[in-house]
Amino acid sequence: MVISLSNQKGGVGKTTIAINIASYIASKGHRVLLVDADPLGGILQWQDISDDKSLDVIYHPKDTLHKDIDELSKGYKHTIIDAPPSIDDITLSTLLTSDLAIVPVEPSPLSIWASTKIVSLIRHAKNHNKELEGRLLISRKVVGTALGRDVREALDSHGMGLITTEICQRTDFVKSLRQGLSVLQYAPKGEAAKEIKSLCDEINFDAFSSKRLPIDTAIKEEIDEYKMTAMEKRRDPRKTPLIMVDFATKNRAHRGFIHNISAGGAFIETRESFSVGEEITLTFMPFKDKSPVKITGDIIRSVPHGIAVKFDMPDQDTTVKSIMEEI
Ligand SMILES: Nc1ncnc2c1ncn2[C@@H]1O[C@H](COP(=O)(O)OP(=O)(O)OP(=O)(O)O)[C@@H](O)[C@H]1O
Ligand SMILES: [Mg+2]
Repeated sequence: MVISLSNQKGGVGKTTIAINIASYIASKGHRVLLVDADPLGGILQWQDISDDKSLDVIYHPKDTLHKDIDELSKGYKHTIIDAPPSIDDITLSTLLTSDLAIVPVEPSPLSIWASTKIVSLIRHAKNHNKELEGRLLISRKVVGTALGRDVREALDSHGMGLITTEICQRTDFVKSLRQGLSVLQYAPKGEAAKEIKSLCDEINFDAFSSKRLPIDTAIKEEIDEYKMTAMEKRRDPRKTPLIMVDFATKNRAHRGFIHNISAGGAFIETRESFSVGEEITLTFMPFKDKSPVKITGDIIRSVPHGIAVKFDMPDQDTTVKSIMEEI
């Protein structure tokens, strides 16, 4: 079986999870190949300090991976691919050769929205690789927190299956890799090791057929076409996300869901009543470790299920656009 760890967003845990899944498979006595398809070579850096001889690592950041894979993975029961943090021909090649694409996402609505791009590339890859399945995986979750409604709504909107196991933010993941180990080797009874075992139990390694038809796709043309289509969609000025937003009018604080957002304004679903002309400040939930983003505007329409807001322009133009880029 071939599994890739994919997300164009950096730092979500792709490399960490790839190494740990591969190490788990090897601990069960199976031959496993770990493919570093990231030109920056995150796995190579780990391998440099690792004495682990149970895994074979190859550095193959090439857009021909889907053609080379049969030769490269001869004799291995499973292959794990660490994809680069980009939407490009290499990432597409990793998807064309995978049975399962795991998309690690941090549990914040905006991070999940940001994964829309990789989710749609997976859909695109399925046109050629019928075997491909995509699954989201909650990664780097703060221990002890529950997934909020906003996060679940964002996950649902992708229409892609979610792996039940959640990978938390734990020092074992960092310390083990720094020593060239996996969490199973570093702290086999620790919580991080339990999460990796649970993740691997959930992946039904044997359910995937190892027979694959050769895919002969003109990969550069394919990714160009994908990007053109994505750009066309982006030109559509109205995005239809469903993002939880905190907003304030005068001294009242509220919470609602954004249904539509464009550079000029947004429609917020809310049952509370407001007056046209009221000033409003929207506070978007931040990306991890970043401060909240505020946008001000006026209520220009109020209906029983929500309000339309016109943003103050033009000084906030860049802020609004950067939010729209991410969702
Ligand atoms: N579950 C976790 N708990 C704690 N730290 C983590 C966890 N997952 C990853 N990290 C840390 O976060 C950083 C980024 O992780 P990693 O390199 O695995 O992400 P990535 O998605 O492969 O990033 P890139 O896209 O840049 O290749 C690393 O320093 C890693 O040690
Ligand atoms: Mg990486």
